[in-house]
Amino acid sequence: MSSVDLVLRGGLLLLPSGHAVGDVAILDGKIVAVGLFEGEAAREIDCSGLALMPGAIDTQVHFREPGLTHKEDLESGTRAAICGGVTTIFEMPNTDPTTTTAEALRDKLERAEGRAWCDFAFFVGASKENIADLPLLEMMPGTPGVKMFMGSSTGTLLVDDDDSVREVMTHGVRPMPVHSEDEARLRQRKAELPENPHVRLHPDARDAESARLCTERLINLVRETGRPTHILHISTKEELPLLAAAKAEGLPVTCEVTPHHLTLNADRYEELGSLIQMNPPVRSEDHRLAIWQAVKDGLFDVFGSDHAPHTREEKAKPYPNSPSGMPGVQTLLPLMVDWALRGEIPLDQVVAMLSANPAKLYGIEGKGSLAPGFDADIVVWDLEGSREVSPDWLQSKCGWSPYEGTRLRGRIEHVFVRGHHAVQDGQLTGTPQGAMVRFDWK
Ligand code: DOR
Repeated sequence: MSSVDLVLRGGLLLLPSGHAVGDVAILDGKIVAVGLFEGEAAREIDCSGLALMPGAIDTQVHFREPGLTHKEDLESGTRAAICGGVTTIFEMPNTDPTTTTAEALRDKLERAEGRAWCDFAFFVGASKENIADLPLLEMMPGTPGVKMFMGSSTGTLLVDDDDSVREVMTHGVRPMPVHSEDEARLRQRKAELPENPHVRLHPDARDAESARLCTERLINLVRETGRPTHILHISTKEELPLLAAAKAEGLPVTCEVTPHHLTLNADRYEELGSLIQMNPPVRSEDHRLAIWQAVKDGLFDVFGSDHAPHTREEKAKPYPNSPSGMPGVQTLLPLMVDWALRGEIPLDQVVAMLSANPAKLYGIEGKGSLAPGFDADIVVWDLEGSREVSPDWLQSKCGWSPYEGTRLRGRIEHVFVRGHHAVQDGQLTGTPQGAMVRFDWK
């Protein structure tokens, strides 16, 4: 090899095989060498004292474009992503209009072109009306597949009864992420709320049984249909044995946990109110601790942010009219690295659950590893440094984070997307260079 475009020199490489000090050489957006690189390079960056990991892949974000762009748009959402070390996002279909047709998917892909700071793909939403189209829709370029809401949340997407869910599951083959809360129980519980309820009742309104019941129904349908199913944002201790048993049985079930459910608990409703109202809810400490134990036991496949921004004005509406969801794409990787640097979880597990695992789960082409042949999506960390979650760092259009004022261990110094420098010395740089994700799904 004569000359490469860029060498990241002398950093600590967080490789699946272990940690080693070495160089990463990049040519035409790909990693071409890992280890001691002695060839010529057009540009070098000294990474001594810094740690290199593959860019994070956030497989659950809501970026609100089209239709709800006062909350977020594809430019601001991907900008928040890149500043938090997320180099690939999968965006959810509960926009306005919903992403339930080929036309709506193409529209999102066109909108992202030239405006996205990180690489992107868009889920198609399952609805009772588009079931027959799903096998074709899930194979379109630019989608990781089909997302199904079994409990209603922000927006109109809903497939709630077993017959319709079964139909969705048999109309397609790719791993399908599911929002698992039992709609009938949610409706019944909501109707039983007292007058002028406080948001601290949110985990009762959408109670643990709503999640457990739905996850049980869903796992039974996986057993019946064989459809690979990815259960999103697990929030209860009661779902954990169901998931463990499904995996032990060899069912094609995978699951996600969010940093919110690992970091926040129900005591925080007093201080943060509806800012931390999300679906499924942030629950009591016993749930949080049980979910942490399951992370340590290796039950969960991926971390996802469920970045779901709403404005402060919207959040200020009295519960239950306050919308559910909070931003999180920018804090996803920093929060989990902070947990790792506090000794709660091995750093390698964080890297695996945010890079290699999502890449494998969804069959992403060329991403998820610091290895020759892979896209040069790289995050360079000062693990000795720290960063406050401050308004001037946050990029989401919604303008707030439940973690504001928190100082997190570790500091992102550089981020590269296919070799393009997007964050330099902790600051956004360059222009949006995001591209459509490719899948080697067969
Ligand atoms: O709290 C949530 N907000 N949960 C979801 O599933 C959707 C999201 C949103 O889009 O606002």
